[in-house]
Amino acid sequence: MHIGILTGGGDCPGLNAVIRAVTLSLINECGAKVTGIERGFLGLLTRSSRPLDTAAVAGILAEGGTILGTHNKCDPFHYFGAAGADSSAAAMDYVRELGLDALVAIGGDGTMAIAHKFEAMGLPVVGVPKTIDNDLFCTERTFGFDSAVAVVAEALDRLATTGRSHGRVMIAETMGRYAGWIALEGGMAGGAEVILIPEIPFSVEAVAERCRERAAHGLSTIISIAEGAAPEGGGLTIQRTIADSPDPLRLGGVGNWLQQQLEPLVDCEVRTTLLGHIQRGGSPTPFDRVLATRFGYHAAQLVEAGQFARMVALQGDAVVSVPISEVAGKNRLVPRDHELVRAARGIGVSLGEK
Ligand code: F6P
Repeated sequence: MHIGILTGGGDCPGLNAVIRAVTLSLINECGAKVTGIERGFLGLLTRSSRPLDTAAVAGILAEGGTILGTHNKCDPFHYFGAAGADSSAAAMDYVRELGLDALVAIGGDGTMAIAHKFEAMGLPVVGVPKTIDNDLFCTERTFGFDSAVAVVAEALDRLATTGRSHGRVMIAETMGRYAGWIALEGGMAGGAEVILIPEIPFSVEAVAERCRERAAHGLSTIISIAEGAAPEGGGLTIQRTIADSPDPLRLGGVGNWLQQQLEPLVDCEVRTTLLGHIQRGGSPTPFDRVLATRFGYHAAQLVEAGQFARMVALQGDAVVSVPISEVAGKNRLVPRDHELVRAARGIGVSLGEK
């Protein structure tokens, strides 16, 4: 048996832990040959791959990023390198040349959508969900999320001490695309007094009111705002558009926008920190290392059992698998009545609601 592995889309902490677990499980349990495809699906077009064996994956468990490299623009069905033409047949030629029996694709919704199309072309695929955004359908957790939340929580702890010293409003803008999971969980872990997420449009006046109330008691305010959050009746804050990307919009800047709106409404200084890619880099937390290893092992089990077109997922505390077709191209947002949203309201955190 010869199995390919690739990592697609943006990187995130824990990718190497999955690569390691898939490789070691396949070698130990089925004596498989394993090949890493470099830079996501791009490697199938540029014919870039490398053998993975026990030595190749030694010492990578705690390493951030991905040893295979990744690419967030490459969709072989609309290949940017061929003016958007369908180059999937060339990718399949390389798959046949390598002699791959199946592919383990580690990625987010975009990667799952592409993997699903290759499955239909006759390449058996198993998917492993990754993204710091935690917004993949059918899984309660993606690895990488816990690591991002840890970064946000630490950042808020640090912002709180300097904010308190100066009596300021401190805004921290998190990643998360169209989902508020990072801002919500990071904000709760870091004790934010205001948490603004895309799923709940906010009122600037309500946020200002909360800051004023706290200032009246001599208290500073920490605001955790998701990059996809938007005011009532307002649109997304777009940082840039990457025309030839399958996911062209890059969000960012709503924290600075909010600062400008708040400054005339509160009687103190307001400062903004954009946490950016710091949330995506570095070593995975122990939780993510373990989850990534469980996912990788389970993916190898699916390959061994010949159960393809499936993605591993966490449901309850069990690792299960679901059809990739159910996941491809969909997002899992924060329900407005989610238990953590209710807990936030219950302890007096403002969600920017009037
Ligand atoms: O999906 C992961 C993510 O980090 C999002 O939270 C963020 O919006 C986006 O990727 C940033 O992408 P890039 O690395 O291309 O700027």
